Amino acid sequence: MSPASRTNKKISEYSLSIVTGGSSGIGKTVIERILKVESGSRICNISRTKPPLFFNDTNTQHLECDLSSRKDRATALSRLLNLLNDEEDKGPILLVNNAGFGLYDTVSAKPSSEHLELLEVNIAALVDITVTLLPILKKRGGSIINIASTSAFQATPYLASYGASKSFVLNWTLALNEEFRNTNINALAVCPGPTRTNFFRRAGLTQRVIPDGYSSSSEEVVEATFKALAKGKSLVTTGLKSKLVSAFSSRLPKTLGTRLAGKIINKYRPAK
Ligand SMILES: NC(=O)c1ccc[n+]([C@@H]2O[C@H](COP(=O)([O-])OP(=O)(O)OC[C@H]3O[C@@H](n4cnc5c(N)ncnc54)[C@H](OP(=O)(O)O)[C@@H]3O)[C@@H](O)[C@H]2O)c1
Repeated sequence: MSPASRTNKKISEYSLSIVTGGSSGIGKTVIERILKVESGSRICNISRTKPPLFFNDTNTQHLECDLSSRKDRATALSRLLNLLNDEEDKGPILLVNNAGFGLYDTVSAKPSSEHLELLEVNIAALVDITVTLLPILKKRGGSIINIASTSAFQATPYLASYGASKSFVLNWTLALNEEFRNTNINALAVCPGPTRTNFFRRAGLTQRVIPDGYSSSSEEVVEATFKALAKGKSLVTTGLKSKLVSAFSSRLPKTLGTRLAGKIINKYRPAK
């Protein structure tokens, strides 16, 4: 892949896709989308549960891994490196760091172990996997898609660790893409607003608290993601409402933005 093809990237150009968290929600839809474009695509998924679409064929590989565990990550990454080493087709790679979860509540309501588990999955695993794969990406060319969130654009009281983790993902991805300007690697930060997946249940909320009329399907998020990748963008906020709300909140003074975000997020906290 030449440096010029940092833009105009099509799914069919990648010889292998590596997805984290492909067992449900946005990650599962990413896999569905790749298989829809190229039914025989080679995909490697990293999560605790096997994606429902994975059968025992040679093109799909599931690496079972709890991404919050450094030991599990080391084992999965070593298996992944062996797999990459054994490949005949050494074409470009698509890496989609999607796995992540949120914690809704006051900071003090959760033990530090839960905050640290979130930081391991949302930040440490993403950095670990990306940095480990960079030497191979440099040789083969490719793209990195990191799933951040609109929570990245301001401080998020009652979702404090989650929002801050997504600010890291957003800024780290933008910096990475800039460092790789004029090379055969590009990085795209995706910032979805509320999306109808298992995310809210996992974060301790019930489905009914997802704001009506302000949520997208995972298909809409993935559609916007691959459009942005094809255009060579480094950042995409998916959905018109999310774009407008994020544009507004990023322009507010930091303290006022935090106050407003806290008032809104507090409404969606589980009733005690
Ligand atoms: N839904 C939203 O409103 C929304 C909005 C903005 C951004 N996002 C981001 O989108 C990404 C995908 O979330 P989603 O909405 O699709 O939620 P989801 O349906 O709950 O999917 C989360 C995925 O992450 C994986 N995962 C979570 N913890 C893991 C761990 N310890 N080890 C390995 N894999 C783990 C899960 O796999 P296993 O359980 O099988 O391990 C699952 O496949 C996340 O990064 C999330 O922060 C979501």
